[in-house]
Amino acid sequence: MKLLTCCSFKGGAGKTTALMGLCAAYASSGRRVALFEADNNRPLTRWKDNALRSNAWDPRCEIFVADEMSLLEAAYEGAERQGFDYALADTQGGSSELNNTIIASSNFLLIPIMLTPLDIDEALSTYRYVIELLMGENLVIPTAVLRQRVPVGRLTTSLRAISDMLASLPLVQCPMYERDAFAAMKERGMLHLTLDNLRTEPMMRLVERNLSIAMEELVTLSKLLDLALEG
Ligand SMILES: Nc1ncnc2c1ncn2[C@@H]1O[C@H](COP(=O)(O)OP(=O)(O)O)[C@@H](O)[C@H]1O
Ligand SMILES: [Mg+2]
Repeated sequence: MKLLTCCSFKGGAGKTTALMGLCAAYASSGRRVALFEADNNRPLTRWKDNALRSNAWDPRCEIFVADEMSLLEAAYEGAERQGFDYALADTQGGSSELNNTIIASSNFLLIPIMLTPLDIDEALSTYRYVIELLMGENLVIPTAVLRQRVPVGRLTTSLRAISDMLASLPLVQCPMYERDAFAAMKERGMLHLTLDNLRTEPMMRLVERNLSIAMEELVTLSKLLDLALEG
């Protein structure tokens, strides 16, 4: 089982959304995904409730509440024993013993960043924090920045300047774009299943096209992460 963790100090950086998307991408290719809910606001549990209501929860996936150390340990052991292919951990912002443990146990660390000056500052300090933690523990864990909510179309000059500033960090090559399809996942459920449900509705051709593009981007992202996980 590969543990992939989204971390950032800042709330609203797009951690949970990135995990929801990756979960759908992996599930759509038949993989079993454990979701470690380490944020005690329980956004993933709410996601699952909404998804079940919309008939868009993939039974290959399961949530393990892991917002305490003992629960995290039980989640990890349980998911491994049950043969999940991936565990995706959603952390709360900030630094804590729990977050440090998740980070140190991960096979891949993803730091979502929004391209605004304020977010970049926070993201850089998250990045520094992670690297210092790994160095202190003598761990080598691939870590990459995921540009989140990137506007579709041309970037403004200031966004481009910010984007250039990130070039010195390890970046996931494909970003997540700002899309309604991504924002709506928390209410609708897993994107690949939302798409399947829509395909039976003839009036929804245009919506379906937008969701397909979003889904394709997620599959590309998941494949890039697979490559990085293989080393
Ligand atoms: N790529 C995206 N496109 C559109 N909206 C997004 C995207 N990523 C995140 N959002 C929205 O931004 C808000 C914060 O995202 P969230 O994933 O909850 O951040 P975090 O988990 O880091 O606090 C949510 O309302 C979410 O729907
Ligand atoms: Mg979150």
